[in-house]
Amino acid sequence: MRREDNVYVLDHPLVQHKLTYIRDKNTGSKEFRELVDEVAMLLTYEVTRNLPLEEVSIETPVAMAKSKVLAGKKIGLVPILRAGLGMVNGLLRLVPTAKVGHIGLYRDPETLSPVEYYAKLPSDVAERLLLVLDPMLATGGSAVAAIDYLKSQGATSIKLVCLIAAPEGIATVHKSHPEVEIYTAAIDSHLNAHAYIVPGLGDAGDRLFGTK
Ligand code: PRP
Ligand code: URA
Repeated sequence: MRREDNVYVLDHPLVQHKLTYIRDKNTGSKEFRELVDEVAMLLTYEVTRNLPLEEVSIETPVAMAKSKVLAGKKIGLVPILRAGLGMVNGLLRLVPTAKVGHIGLYRDPETLSPVEYYAKLPSDVAERLLLVLDPMLATGGSAVAAIDYLKSQGATSIKLVCLIAAPEGIATVHKSHPEVEIYTAAIDSHLNAHAYIVPGLGDAGDRLFGTK
């Protein structure tokens, strides 16, 4: 894993291999969904690397033993609708007790600004480590709007998990929320005139759900 300025790039071979097929325009929705799910699960491994542990005493069939269990803040997952939904199950497979909040945002195609249409969060966001999920960090407008909203609801501990990030989006998130760590499988070249990530993967929501 490479780390720079609060951005963690998961350059693990399995992640990079799967990401290639996610990007490929010939990959259909079924395989796309499966691959996003698998990469989200692999990303979870690094996102949770520094979770605190505490020692407990247990009895194995052979002897008493000291062993470790997770301690500290509980986890909340917050997918940004729609495309963030494609990452939820991958994370839940490794963190099955996480609660899941939802934030509905879409990018206005004219202004490219995020428009909020839905929000439902667990009641105790202030006590949780929140993982905001969205495959695409393009201009960063959606991520910043989601993080703004979570902070307005009392959240203090937030990480952003995506598949592909544009340099522009990383800069925007860090300008507004410098303490938020960003985990991504790739940092791409730039945004095109429609604010799509180049080379990217196209429209993540459409490819996940087969809409166009
Ligand atoms: C996409 C994507 C992000 C957003 C990223 O969502 O899933 O939420 O764009 O762009 P930004 O960084 O420039 O804000 P979209 O608006 O297409 O909605 P959808 O997930 O419902 O398709
Ligand atoms: N949203 C997407 O789904 N893809 C992009 O490249 C940019 C925003």
